[in-house]
Amino acid sequence: MFLHERICQWLGHLKLSRVILMVSVILFVVPLVTHYYLSKYEATSMTLGGSNMRHTLEALGDLSTMNVVDLKIRIEEMLRIKASVSTELRELEERRGKLQREAAAASAKSDSVKAEYARATAELQRLRVSADQARLAQLEAIRRDSPELAPPAQILPSQPPPILSPISSSSEVHCRMHSCFDHSRCSLTSGFPIYFYDPEKYSPLAGAEVDGFLKTTLRQTLSYNSHLTHNPNEACVYLILVGEGFPLDKSPSSTTDTYKLSLNESAIKSLPYWGGDGRNHVLLNLARRELSVGSGDAFHTASTGRAMIAQSTFTMQQFRPGFDLVTPPALGPPGGDVWADCAPIAPARRKYILSFQGSQTPLPAASSVDNDKFLIETLRKAASAAPLSDVFFLQFECDPPIERRAVVPNGDWALCGTDRSRRSILRDSTFVLILAPADNSYATTALLQARLYEALRSGAIPIILGGDRIRLPFDEVLDWRRATLSLPKARVTELHFLLRALSDADLLAFRRQGRVLWERYLSSVQASMDSLLATVRTRLNIPAQPAVATLGAPAFNDSYYPPKLEPPAVDTEPEETLGPSEAPYPSPAYRRNYSLALLHGYELWNEWGEPFALYPQLPWDPPVTSEARFMGSTAGFRPIGAGAGGSGKEFSEALGGDRPREQFTIVILTYEREAVLAAALARLRGLPYLNKVVVVWNGVSAPAATQAWPESGAPVAVVRAARNSLNNRFLPYNVIDTEAVLCVDDDAHLRHDEIVFAFRVWREHRDRIVGFPGRYHAWDLNFNNGFLYNSNYSCELSMVLTGAAFVHRYYLWAYWRALPAAVRDYVDEYMNCEDIAMNFLVAHITRKPPVKVTSRWTFRCPGCPVTLSADETHFHERHKCIQFFSQVMGYTPLLSTQYRADSVLFKTRIPHDKQKCFKFI
Ligand SMILES: *[C@@H]1O[C@H](CO)[C@@H](O)[C@H](O)[C@H]1NC(C)=O
Ligand SMILES: *[C@@H]1O[C@H](CO)[C@@H](O)[C@H](O)[C@H]1NC(C)=O
Ligand SMILES: *[C@@H]1O[C@H](CO)[C@@H](O)[C@H](O)[C@H]1NC(C)=O
Ligand SMILES: *[C@@H]1O[C@H](CO)[C@@H](O)[C@H](O)[C@H]1NC(C)=O
Repeated sequence: MFLHERICQWLGHLKLSRVILMVSVILFVVPLVTHYYLSKYEATSMTLGGSNMRHTLEALGDLSTMNVVDLKIRIEEMLRIKASVSTELRELEERRGKLQREAAAASAKSDSVKAEYARATAELQRLRVSADQARLAQLEAIRRDSPELAPPAQILPSQPPPILSPISSSSEVHCRMHSCFDHSRCSLTSGFPIYFYDPEKYSPLAGAEVDGFLKTTLRQTLSYNSHLTHNPNEACVYLILVGEGFPLDKSPSSTTDTYKLSLNESAIKSLPYWGGDGRNHVLLNLARRELSVGSGDAFHTASTGRAMIAQSTFTMQQFRPGFDLVTPPALGPPGGDVWADCAPIAPARRKYILSFQGSQTPLPAASSVDNDKFLIETLRKAASAAPLSDVFFLQFECDPPIERRAVVPNGDWALCGTDRSRRSILRDSTFVLILAPADNSYATTALLQARLYEALRSGAIPIILGGDRIRLPFDEVLDWRRATLSLPKARVTELHFLLRALSDADLLAFRRQGRVLWERYLSSVQASMDSLLATVRTRLNIPAQPAVATLGAPAFNDSYYPPKLEPPAVDTEPEETLGPSEAPYPSPAYRRNYSLALLHGYELWNEWGEPFALYPQLPWDPPVTSEARFMGSTAGFRPIGAGAGGSGKEFSEALGGDRPREQFTIVILTYEREAVLAAALARLRGLPYLNKVVVVWNGVSAPAATQAWPESGAPVAVVRAARNSLNNRFLPYNVIDTEAVLCVDDDAHLRHDEIVFAFRVWREHRDRIVGFPGRYHAWDLNFNNGFLYNSNYSCELSMVLTGAAFVHRYYLWAYWRALPAAVRDYVDEYMNCEDIAMNFLVAHITRKPPVKVTSRWTFRCPGCPVTLSADETHFHERHKCIQFFSQVMGYTPLLSTQYRADSVLFKTRIPHDKQKCFKFI
């Protein structure tokens, strides 16, 4: 038994592969062990005490007759044998130990050789895949017989507009772009240069002076516009500020009459680039302070040649659709943040269901005029018949009555009270009534535009009665149906019913959209001027100027770059081929210069986009159709299994999907932690699809020049930020060449398979934040007054922290252009919450939650807030961030999600000869 166990034990120790060795050992051992037993028996007999020995001897029976001497000799002999056997045994034991050690060493060596073989196989596989990829890329390069398209030389006119004979005033009313605009001055590649006549020098109002505020503000805001040129000879469009102005003669004689400002035609016609007929001129009359005095139309009887007119007041006859422009009045600040003027979007229903404040000067009875008597009656009746829950605030006479001077000529409704008193009513109104002027010949008036402006600012949803003939600002590009309700006046009898029929969700959507349009296009003079020019540019399908990328100050100059270190081998994980290592391949940029505004003009103005700049790529760029990937448009596509599909090997070799191949950039924000950064770079070694690592050096002092940096396998660009700010993580650096940007903290440990999987998921959710650490906003049950930040385990999340997440490069621009500056200032003040801000931004633009991807193990992120859970102030700050950002944006844009993404065959039972997508995720 014992022997058998021994052998088994040995066999257990040694591997089967060394059976032959074993056999020889056994051959040795068996006889020896027999020996051993023998000697052991004898030794035992010898060492026993006298009585016991006697016992034993007696038991031996016939031995008792042997004489003592004989016995002694035999004992001595036995003892000799025993000594020799034990020596032999010791030697044997030694040999056994030695053999065992040798066996262990051999086994270790075989293991390491096996691991080396696996690594080599994986490496070979990678190299093979890389070589295949390189061959494909080369083939594509050869096949493409046309060179990369570069725009032709910029064509700009070099002469001022030639003088042509003026057109008759009867043909002026028929002016359209095709008949009155000179397209030859505005080539597609011209960049849409605009010349602005100096308002100090050119004042084309008769006997009046242009408002000083407007002059200064316009000069200033236009200087920020990238289309402004100082060279009138190359300009496409000439802009001249006409009004609003004030009579130079300030005598108070005109108490009864409205003063009518009129255009000094001879001043207009003598403008240096008028060219005889005013082609490509925009005459701008911005209504501002004197809204109530009917100064709206400065061009009423004037002849303006082929010039376009931009103002807030138009009659139906006068307005030339697609040519003239309805502009909002200049009621806001010159520029800057406007959020503080706005009201929060929730709750959907406010104190008053409908409000109106205004007073109308009765018009002489005439066919085109109805004094809105019926309308007022009906509304009053509806208000008094309404249930208690529906409070109307209707005021058809101002209290106190407005000055007589402010008599409005066209049956328009003058504004009652002060700006502040009106604002407080509007903030309490779910809907606000806007009445089209009683004079049917008007398509819009400055007063009506002012009402619209106020309503949107305070979140009261505008109901425009008589709206079926009303034109709203920039309505050729803006979809006002999503922010206002336009009804014919005849609908007044059904108004109350209609207002009640709208759901809360719709009310909130109207209000939110109204605020978006107001903030982007009307709120400030800058916003309305940029919109005015962008509208004309959109007509001509000239692309906007490209968005400016941040020039990162390189931390190292051309002549010096720190030495590269081969990083120490990372802890050996089972090797898995995740993709080819390829040469850096930037994402194709600016491929839609001339199609974007045509295909996505609506979304650019009304949804996710913005029309003021051109971006190299957008998350919403359309993919080609499925078969086109194999027919004609194959370039760049890497279908899985060359189109046959597959898992495992085929999957890991190709990106697949509906988009051409691409790579991603890693942006690491670091603050003077060289060692942590070095470890982060070392971990990236061998990561497929990595285009470049951009290290944003947030430190005050430059990175040490002498320290060697570990090789990360991709180019590393180190840029120094101008100042230490967490917002720097989202600067749109010019060194970023790909659409996909992976933001990581320097101490975030992400495995390669996690990164590659997240990249593949992001490719299908390009407009969202795709990443690992999920958080959510939880309602504050104690104070019932907003949301708190929460990082507890939960089955619902609404944020993915940008300490480890993919975002589209477009959002790096949007962070600086679409987010109110107050948010970024707050991030700087508290040195926290830039990740929350990015989540707010993306959710605001897309109205979608982020995507969380599966990570193999618990996400490790030493510097992340997770480990700070004890830190009360951290959480306190993050609560405050959510509340402040919500206040700035008027609502909390975050949306919740209850699912996360894992790879298709994860946890699927598949035949043993098949492979999954990833080994572990
Ligand atoms: C598109 O616009 C970008 C930015 O202005 C420019 O760099 C690029 O050359 C343009 N491409 C074409 C084909 O016009
Ligand atoms: C109209 O403009 C002309 C030329 O600039 C100027 O001489 C004239 O005084 C202006 N007329 C009025 C009424 O301002
Ligand atoms: C480049 O950088 C190195 C180290 O930072 C510095 O010693 C060297 O003077 C710089 N060279 C130039 C041309 O700026
Ligand atoms: C998170 O969970 C713990 C334990 O369940 C609880 O004590 C704590 O209040 C929670 N924190 C938040 C912010 O909800």
